[in-house]
Amino acid sequence: MSERRQAILGIETSCDDTCAAVVTRDGDVLSNMVASQMDHDRFGGVVPEVASRCHLETLDGVVTAALAEAGIALDDVDSVAATRGPGLIGALLVGFSYAKALAVAAGKPLVPVDHLQAHVAANFLRPDPIETPFLCLIASGGHTFLARVEDRDGYEILGQTADDAAGEAFDKGARLLGLGYPGGAALDALARDGDDDAYDFPRTFVGELDFSFSGIKTSLLYKLRDLPSGEFEAVKSDLAASYQCAVIDMLVGRVEHALERTGLERVAIGGGVAANTLLRERVTGLGVKVKVPPHELCTDNAAMVAAAAIGRTAIAPPLYAGMDAYPSGVPATASR
Ligand code: KG4
Ligand code: ZN
Repeated sequence: MSERRQAILGIETSCDDTCAAVVTRDGDVLSNMVASQMDHDRFGGVVPEVASRCHLETLDGVVTAALAEAGIALDDVDSVAATRGPGLIGALLVGFSYAKALAVAAGKPLVPVDHLQAHVAANFLRPDPIETPFLCLIASGGHTFLARVEDRDGYEILGQTADDAAGEAFDKGARLLGLGYPGGAALDALARDGDDDAYDFPRTFVGELDFSFSGIKTSLLYKLRDLPSGEFEAVKSDLAASYQCAVIDMLVGRVEHALERTGLERVAIGGGVAANTLLRERVTGLGVKVKVPPHELCTDNAAMVAAAAIGRTAIAPPLYAGMDAYPSGVPATASR
């Protein structure tokens, strides 16, 4: 087998996206497939049971497609990496059990991966992998934290959200503005036509490097309640822009403060909110080296799961057969 074809098959099912990818040991992404569940509007969000059933129906096809796109057979993959947690337990169990069964049947080793470590590891993928040490902001639908990353194997959390995640703030704001679920990308698009300063939203800072997003959605709720009737359509892009600007100010304010405190000279961002146009612009203007991964590596994907497995000890078959998924917990250092 050539060096280039030494590859890892990654599998990610921690929430509602069914993902599989093939990544070489050098960090080249050979394929990165995502099947998104489109039924959110009917239920107004992710329904764990529905998400699990969708993974069950879709995952085998997504894995087959990822291998085909990479031009590699399962036999030629040198290990399987799968998200073990945190996330929706039913969804995780589908992907993790599938990965264990696939790996055992093919006689392949398995690398269990922490979902948050995977978001951090997306920054190590080629082209243009980041060098350590760096400050990493992860902002997704379920998590928001700042971490110091010294090496590929783990990270130290410097600050995190005290309540909602930044993605949740976007999703709840988007829902109030009638934009469906998940609404972060739609709110981002609507905000492009609006004025950042049209409305005053609170910037809440808690702790030294922590975040809080629970107050801002209440502020939007009250502003909408107090709007004169018939005015909503005319001002909704201004509301979106001002709301988005406040969320991004809180994120970037903490990043700036963490840079000062740690003296780190590189910043990377990850998680679905890292796809946000204003956040990407604002971190690029911080005056330090910045790594902003492409959109498809910011939102949930399996290339980042395979990236997190690079250099990590794989467990030989069938020793991982009894290993369980875990639903929650942000380990202080996620080096498992
Ligand atoms: O990392 P991710 O795909 O899944 C989780 O692990 O949660 O993040 C999803 C989150 C959702 O809250 C979604 O609304 C948000 O990322 N998001 C955005 C944008 N694209 C996705 N938020 C703001 N602006 C965007 N362009
Ligand atoms: Zn995620």
